[in-house]
Amino acid sequence: MKRTLLVALILLAGAIASLTDGRPLRASDSAEFFARRILPIARAQRASSCTECHFAGVELGQYVLDDEASTFAALRAAGLIDVAQPEQSKLLAFIRRKPEREDATMAKVRAEESAAFTAWITAAAKNPELLSKSGDAPPIGTQLPPEVVRHVRSDRLLASFVENIWVEMERCINCHSPERNERWVKEHGKQVSWLVPRDPAATMKYLADEGLIDVDAPEKSLLLLKPLGAVEHAGHVKFAVGSRTDRQFRRFLNDYAATVAGKYKTTGDLPPPTKQLAIATGQQLKITEMPTDQRGRLIRVLLYPRDGEAWSTRPIASGDSQINPQDGTWMNQMCELVDREQATPDRLLKPRLLPGERYLAKLYIVDATAATKPNFEFGDADFYGSAEVSGNWHPGWQKPKTIAAGEIVRE
Ligand code: HEC
Ligand code: HEC
Repeated sequence: MKRTLLVALILLAGAIASLTDGRPLRASDSAEFFARRILPIARAQRASSCTECHFAGVELGQYVLDDEASTFAALRAAGLIDVAQPEQSKLLAFIRRKPEREDATMAKVRAEESAAFTAWITAAAKNPELLSKSGDAPPIGTQLPPEVVRHVRSDRLLASFVENIWVEMERCINCHSPERNERWVKEHGKQVSWLVPRDPAATMKYLADEGLIDVDAPEKSLLLLKPLGAVEHAGHVKFAVGSRTDRQFRRFLNDYAATVAGKYKTTGDLPPPTKQLAIATGQQLKITEMPTDQRGRLIRVLLYPRDGEAWSTRPIASGDSQINPQDGTWMNQMCELVDREQATPDRLLKPRLLPGERYLAKLYIVDATAATKPNFEFGDADFYGSAEVSGNWHPGWQKPKTIAAGEIVRE
C-alpha cells in the first residue's frame, strides 16, 4: 500500500474513533456525523479551504444541502462520492488539495473539513438506507460554468500577473527590490520595497495586502498611478497612458478586481485572452533628436528580422513610450513578441535577448491624448518611417542601439 494512503487511513481511523468515542463505526452514525459535523461546517460564516485557490463562486458549503439523504444522492450523482472506495471520493480530493505554501489558518480549516467529510462519506457509503435511494438527485456544487471556475483560480490569476506585470519589472526593480534600493529606502521608508525578488506570487500578495491594488477601483490602483506619474512618484513617469505596458497593467488590475469580487458569472463575462505576449529583453532602443512637432507624442516601434532576401512581415519585438517633450529623445526596451501558445511560464520568466542581427525598425507615432481613448490601437495610418539597426545588442540602459532622427526613412 502507498504510504500516503496508509497515513490517510490511520488518520481516518483516528478521526472516526474520536467521533464515535472509540467504538466501531455503525451505519446509523452517518446521520449523526452529518448533523454534528457537516452541517455546522457548511453553514459556518468563515471561508472554506477552497477559497485559498478558488475566488468567489466555489465554496464547500455549496456541496451540502439541507438534509443528509439529498446531499448524499446529489454528490453521488455528480460523481463526487465513490461508494466503492469512499476515501477516494472526488469531493475529498478537492478538500485535500492544498497550495505549495499553505496558509496556517487555512491548514487548520482544511484539516477539520477533511476529517469531518472523510468520516461522514465513509459512514454514509455503508448506510443501506442512503445507498438504496434512487430517483432524481437535486443539483449540487458551484453554479459557475467550468470556464469561469477555471478562470477565477489563484494559479490563473498569478499567470496573469506574470504575463502582464512581472515581465515589466526590469523598469521598477532598481528602486523597488530590497536587494537594490537601500538609498531609496533611506530617503522614503521601507514601503518602497514592494517587489519580492524572484517571487511573483509573494509580490502579488504583497501588492494586494498593502492596498497597492485597489479592488474597488482597479484603474485607481497606486500600482498603476505611480508609474504613470498620475500621482506624485519619486521614480517619475515610467510609461505613458495608452502604451502597451499601461494596457497590460490595466488588463491585470481589472481582471484581478473582477476575479476577487466574483463579478464573472458567465463565459461571456471573461476577458478574451491576448494572442501575443511581450517578453522583456532588457535591450534598449534609443531615437535621438526627434523634430519639435513630434515631441511629447507616443511612438510604437516594431522590429522586423530578415527573412531570406527581404524583411519578414512578422514583427519580432516591440517597444512603446513617449518622446521626451524637452529634448526629443525616445528610449525604450524592446520586448519580444511571442504567440500565446509558445509562451510557457518557463519562457516568460527566463531572460530573453534578441540575437545581434539586422532589424528593420518601423515607427508609428500618435498624439499622446489619442492614446488615452479606451479602445485605442496603433494603425497603418500612424506609420512615420523606418530605419535599420544591426550588430551586437547588449542589454542595459548604458548600451542602447541608437537611431538618429535623420536616419529615419520617411515614406
Ligand atoms: C490548492 C488549490 C486548490 C484548492 C484548495 C481547491 N482547488 Fe479546486 N481546483 C484546483 C485546480 C488547480 C483545479 C483544476 C485542475 C484540475 O481540474 O485538476 C481545480 C478544479 C476544481 C473544479 C473544476 C474541475 C473538476 O475537477 O471538476 C472544481 C468544481 C473545484 N476545483 C472545486 C473545489 C472545491 C469545492 C474546493 C474546496 C473543497 C477546491 N476545489 C479546493 C485547485 C484547488
Ligand atoms: C528611480 C526609482 C524608481 C523607479 C524606477 C520606480 N519607482 Fe516607484 N517609487 C520610487 C520611490 C522612491 C517611491 C516612494 C516615494 C513615492 O511614493 O513616490 C516609489 C513609490 C512607488 C509606489 C508606492 C509604494 C507605496 O507602498 O507607497 C508604487 C506602487 C510604485 N512606486 C510603483 C512603481 C512601478 C510599477 C515602477 C515600474 C514600472 C516603479 N515604481 C519604478 C522610485 C521608483
